[in-house]
Formats: sequence, C-alpha cells, structure tokens
Amino acid sequence: MTDVVLTRAELAARRGAMSGTVGVVMTMGALHSGHEALLRAARERADQVIATIFVNPLQFGPTEDFDRYPRTLDDDVEICRRAGVDLVFAPAQVEVYPYGQPAVRVDPGLLGEDLEGGSRPGFFEGVLTVVMKLFQLVRPDLAFFGEKDYQQLTLIRRMVRDLDVPVEVVGVPTVREPDGLALSSRNRYLSAAEREAALLLSAALREGAAAAEAGLPGEAVIAAGRRLLDDESSGVRLDYLALADPDLEPGPVSGPARLLVAAWVGSTRLIDNLAIELN
Ligand code: PAJ
Repeated sequence: MTDVVLTRAELAARRGAMSGTVGVVMTMGALHSGHEALLRAARERADQVIATIFVNPLQFGPTEDFDRYPRTLDDDVEICRRAGVDLVFAPAQVEVYPYGQPAVRVDPGLLGEDLEGGSRPGFFEGVLTVVMKLFQLVRPDLAFFGEKDYQQLTLIRRMVRDLDVPVEVVGVPTVREPDGLALSSRNRYLSAAEREAALLLSAALREGAAAAEAGLPGEAVIAAGRRLLDDESSGVRLDYLALADPDLEPGPVSGPARLLVAAWVGSTRLIDNLAIELN
C-alpha cells in the first residue's frame, strides 16, 4: 500500500519503522514514464521505496516557471501506487524550509557554472541543497536519478563523494517517446508544432552519434549535430551543444563521451544528452 505523508515528523516516524534497504526517488511531481522507470529501478533494488514530490523554489530563477510548473499530486500518487512505492513524501515549502530560504547552501563548484549552470545561475546550488536536505530527511541507502538530467546526476554523484554522504547513487537511462523525444514534465507546455520541432534535439544527438560511429573527430560530431539546430526558423533556438567526458571533467575528450544539448522551443527550455564513443 502506498501511504502519503506531508510532514517531516510523519516521514521520520515512518522511516524509523522501516527495515531493510531504503531507496529514494526524488521528483518535482507531474510524473511520467521517465519517473516511473526510476520508481521501478528502486522497487527492484531496495526493500522499501520512498518517492518525494516537491517543487523546489530554490532551483527556479526569477523568470522561470515555478508558478506554472504542473502540480498533479493525485495522479502522481496513483502512479506511485502502481509502481509499488511504499511511501510518498509530499511536503509543503514550510516543511522543507521551516526557517525560510537557507543561508547555508551546497556549492556545486565550477561544473555548476557550466552548461545548464551557465544559462541558469543558481540552479545547481538550489538542486544540490534540496537533494542534500532530502537525503538527511529520508536517510536512504540508495538514490535513483535519471540520466536525462545528466549534469544534475553528475553533480549529485560528486556531492555524495565530496561530502561523504552515505548513499549509493544509481543512474537510470533516459526514457524516450517512440519518436525519440526525451520524456519531461515540461513537454506538456509544448503546442503540437513545438512538439514536432522539439524532435530536433534528439535527432541532433543521433546525428552526432552517427558521426562519431563513422570515426569522425569531436569537432565534426558537434558540426553534424549543429546542422539540425542552427536554423531558428525550425522553431528551435539552440543554447548549447557540447561534447564532454562521461564525468563532465574539463579537458580533451576521447573514447567514451557525452553529447549534451539544450535549446528553447518557443518559451520552453528542453535538454537532452546521449552517450557516444569517440575514436
Ligand atoms: P524532476 O524533473 O521531476 O525529475 C526527477 C527525476 O526524474 C530526476 O532524477 C530526472 O533525471 C528523472 N527523469 C526525468 N525525466 C526522465 C526521463 N525521460 N528518463 C529518465 N529519468 C528521467 O530533477 C528534478 O526533478 C529535481 O531537480 C530534483 C532532483 C527532484 C530536485 O528538486
């Protein structure tokens, strides 16, 4: 049975009564099949599964979509129930931030300013701070995050390593629509025409991967992807298309690599990424 708790006190009581390993899936709600894959992975690996649903104000910029971010708690709880989640923690802001906006926050370091962080100042500080707080509140043995948000996953792994957080981070592959579009809660903002244009992101990644498979060097991989994304009349405005090593460490890239893209489709910002292999 899936129970829903709204307060940190109830969470602590329920967590304290759990035995065996605890897996957590942290989300902002508006759950889709991508989130479901995380819940299923957690169900397979952990004895108890806790899902958190919290739209974290700290990770939204002043002009971003915090107010209109979809809030669909009843549907989300139903998805959690079907996925065999034991406990849903769906706190109000005051439960997570009882003292208001925290003065002490997690510093993501230099990678926090690159890629997503370049376009969204303070984003990863807000993400890591809430993830750290949720680690403290939930005290999981395992935590599941999607490769869809690859830089986020990488930074959470680094935080866990650098701050000795006693949790195993498990990455889960990106779930896509049959036509390639990576599932995202923000896809529901897209009009039919924008939904079509949004396909260019995953298509560009596949073009890049094909170039890599053909043995072309990194610059040609980027160029192959950019060909699909450079024409703004397509409805897509490219933010970045970048090639990085699998840990997003700076420096030259060879062998296993990650191709990452971010673009605006209308007023919606979308991201995607793909593992590629450079010669
Ligand atoms: P949210 O965007 O709701 O995503 C929650 C988790 O689902 C993240 O780990 C994300 O990578 C994963 N996810 C989203 N779409 C996916 C897809 N198509 N395939 C696989 N996994 C997918 O990411 C956040 O929330 C927040 O930043 C959070 C970590 C909860 C902190 O507030």
